[in-house]
Amino acid sequence: MPLFVPNRFRGKLIVVEGIDGSGKSTQLSLLSHWLRSQSYAVAFSEWNSSPLVRQTTRRGKKKEMFTPTTFSLIHATDFADRMESYILPMVKAGAIVCADRYAYTAFARDVARGVSRRWVRNLYRFAIRPNIAFYFRVPLDVALGRILGGRDALKYYEAGMDLGLARDVEESFRIFQGRIIDEYEAMAHEMGFHIIDARLSIEDQQRRMREIVTNVLGDSLKNEVRRLAGGEIHAQAATAPVL
Ligand SMILES: Nc1ncnc2c1ncn2[C@@H]1O[C@H](COP(=O)(O)OP(=O)(O)OP(=O)(O)O)[C@@H](O)[C@H]1O
Ligand SMILES: [Mg+2]
Repeated sequence: MPLFVPNRFRGKLIVVEGIDGSGKSTQLSLLSHWLRSQSYAVAFSEWNSSPLVRQTTRRGKKKEMFTPTTFSLIHATDFADRMESYILPMVKAGAIVCADRYAYTAFARDVARGVSRRWVRNLYRFAIRPNIAFYFRVPLDVALGRILGGRDALKYYEAGMDLGLARDVEESFRIFQGRIIDEYEAMAHEMGFHIIDARLSIEDQQRRMREIVTNVLGDSLKNEVRRLAGGEIHAQAATAPVL
């Protein structure tokens, strides 16, 4: 059974993957600004952002009610909602959809939580295959330092505290995120990830990403992707989610 559905539409799908604190959102924001500056229609979709499951996710997290299976299913529901109501229509309309995390996040995280690899891949079979999947490879300590530099504490699920790996939250984070790194590394080749060394400066990583986008999408960027006229660009800037 094929993993994803090929993208036969004019629009393109670019996704970023990597552990928490690897710099995904920073880079995707810069990339989408760059694409917009060339007047391409750009849409943005973020993991776990669908209004459909927001309340349930919040309640479940607060009360620590999730099991690995229910957590996986709630993310899949979030994803399916965004895919059908936003990502797919945008790609069909010729936009470049920039996704902050994609199905690979479930493949890495849910498996690190003990869910079956085959089961979770089967769950996301309906997803369209990204044109480019960037993987931000970063050592645990660098990611941890960045997260703790930006806020006070590690979050319960981000540290995998539900798994009972360690009493200390930082220790649990290391074990859990270490498992996630192992899963990402194991699928990097199979999934054709474009690997970015996330230890590099923000500028160097961004330069590399732009080169890859130009090389991989090539002429299809110019010939297939929708470009916006002056007025529409204004509207796009006004309605675009803040990156
Ligand atoms: N190349 C870099 N060098 C140093 N700091 C960086 C770099 N890239 C990002 N940062 C900083 O690291 C922090 C985490 O970055 P960012 O939010 O982009 O990570 P993320 O992968 O999106 O994390 P999450 O998965 O938790 O959303 C931010 O404070 C950001 O400013
Ligand atoms: Mg982020």
